[in-house]
Amino acid sequence: MKNNILINHADAFRCPLCGEAFAAKEQSFLCQKGHCFDVSSKGYVNFLTNPKRQPYEKFLFESRGRIFDSGFYDRAAEAVQNILTAYSSDTVCRFLDAGCGEGFYASFLTKDSQMDGFGLDVVKEAVTLAAKRSKNVKWMVADLAKIPLRNDSMNAVLNILTPANYREFQRVLSPQGILIKVVPGEDYLKEIRSAVSGQLNASRYKGGDIISHFKKYAEILKIQKSSATFSLTPEQRIDFLKMTPMTFHVDIQKAADFSEITVDLDILVGRMKNI
Ligand SMILES: C[S@@+](CC[C@H](N)C(=O)[O-])C[C@H]1O[C@@H](n2cnc3c(N)ncnc32)[C@H](O)[C@@H]1O
Ligand SMILES: [Zn+2]
Repeated sequence: MKNNILINHADAFRCPLCGEAFAAKEQSFLCQKGHCFDVSSKGYVNFLTNPKRQPYEKFLFESRGRIFDSGFYDRAAEAVQNILTAYSSDTVCRFLDAGCGEGFYASFLTKDSQMDGFGLDVVKEAVTLAAKRSKNVKWMVADLAKIPLRNDSMNAVLNILTPANYREFQRVLSPQGILIKVVPGEDYLKEIRSAVSGQLNASRYKGGDIISHFKKYAEILKIQKSSATFSLTPEQRIDFLKMTPMTFHVDIQKAADFSEITVDLDILVGRMKNI
């Protein structure tokens, strides 16, 4: 199956190996030095030449998918959408979701035709699910430490519950572009932390460290909270237990019961400093 959306945007990309521009050749991106990356029939380009095993398993993204479909993160996505609309100086806001997972946010945002979305994750299984979620987004399997996009090409970078590479974010952002980093708030999934507290090494999350690191690279324009507590069905309780890296090393069969969940996120909005 042809993927014209990726092929038609070949000029937004650059080769992650040598940094040269790409030309589209049939269903591939070909750089001037001859590095070639195929557009998969599943709807993404895989830019990883040496994939490393990641701690994120497919079941985690499937659980996340069901949780997203039930609306638990809609408020956070709406908050990000409002920020993009408020801060974007261009009519169409071109954004990269760096660490997009199974693609909820980029898919949500590109339902609006004023949003031009690119999504990147290092886990192929996650991007495969993302490409099923939306055909509007330019999806790629890639490392955010080597983003295969041109300098100054994005109006915004989203970095949601994912590690950052601020130098790369600065490179791909236009001078007036904004960085939106979403980090867990103090009460994020506190019911899970309490249900598995006996099995966790560190039960408290130190969001302050991330914020001070963010401030080194970006001038903060705004910090916004998105927080709500929801009641859960027993199936959703299991999906929440499976979806978070917090429980990677715990036996979820031994988790104490809980029937509510708090989704408490801090949204940091910044403009990159000249570093
Ligand atoms: C907790 S998940 C969050 C996913 C998504 N942003 C969300 O909120 O649903 C963290 C994501 O970061 C991705 N990730 C971690 N290191 C990465 C890297 N170096 N390059 C690209 N993605 C990375 C993981 O594969 C995973 O999908
Ligand atoms: Zn190249």
